[in-house]
Amino acid sequence: MSRPAPARPIAASGDGSPLRALAPAKVNLGLAVVGRRQDGFHDLESILLRIGLADELEVRPGAGPADALVVQGDPDCLVEGNLVLRAAAIVRARLAGPTAPPLAFRLRKRIPVAAGLGGGSSDAAAALRLLEQALGFAPEWHERWADAEALGSDVPFFVSGAAAAHVAGRGERAEPLPAPPSLGLVLVTPHRPLATAEVFARFDRLPPSSPEARGVVRELADALAGGLDGAGLAALAPRLRQANDLWPAAIALRPELAGLREAVEAALGRLCLLSGSGPTLVALYPSGDEAAAVAPGLAAGLPHARIIATDLETPEPLWRQP
Ligand code: C5P
Repeated sequence: MSRPAPARPIAASGDGSPLRALAPAKVNLGLAVVGRRQDGFHDLESILLRIGLADELEVRPGAGPADALVVQGDPDCLVEGNLVLRAAAIVRARLAGPTAPPLAFRLRKRIPVAAGLGGGSSDAAAALRLLEQALGFAPEWHERWADAEALGSDVPFFVSGAAAAHVAGRGERAEPLPAPPSLGLVLVTPHRPLATAEVFARFDRLPPSSPEARGVVRELADALAGGLDGAGLAALAPRLRQANDLWPAAIALRPELAGLREAVEAALGRLCLLSGSGPTLVALYPSGDEAAAVAPGLAAGLPHARIIATDLETPEPLWRQP
């Protein structure tokens, strides 16, 4: 359904400063691929956990003829094809009448791109939220959900605002779950990115995965619903490590990932999970302080990866390689 477009954007708060939103990253705790679909996507079951590390998006009235985006903080994050501008195009398509005035977005990246951390998807969800505010656009719930789905499989989770969720379908069916009260994470992201589409395509050429991952995901959903804390979640790492069906495809594409995981696990004395389609490896700790304490020692031995320590609340890394 189309809506009248506003004559002027309201893309600034009362004092003239831009509208701002945080776009937090996620990690996957287990990922079961349960089927291949007619539309080329795969049906999944996974637990998504929103983490502290976040990009920042702001918007103000634009000066140019069209919506514009400036990206800061990561040369690997491109303006062309960026989901922030795709979100703007999708929202504009819902607005009828005279064209809504252009907007200027500024995206400050902290989440590594193409890393399995949902950075682009979260940026898209933040953009949808800011576009609604900036253009005074109030979609129906199902319209917002459809726009989120059109932008990517993880976008509905971020739009839902849930701290954690048991996701199914393409990833768009998100059953909210409580997050543990505290958790620390060390993220190890190889500098060479990995495209999700490539990992799924490779998955299709490998022998079928065993059905175990789905059981682990469901058990974790029950445990989180029952109030699992950070220490309890970190203790489940050995089971969760075996419960990402995309691991064989990720190492088929990036054989060096197996050696990296061994090195990280030996250095930390702790098992690591693959987040989503990778290539980020994740070590879990009961608190952010503990994650921040071990990260510097790890970074010294791993020149080909980016190391970040985070928790569930803090947008800036608790520690990152200087
Ligand atoms: O939805 P998103 O744009 O993040 O997905 C990127 C690609 O990953 C899709 O084009 C598809 O090839 C693959 N994918 C999939 N099944 C999913 C999610 C993603 O096959 N559930």
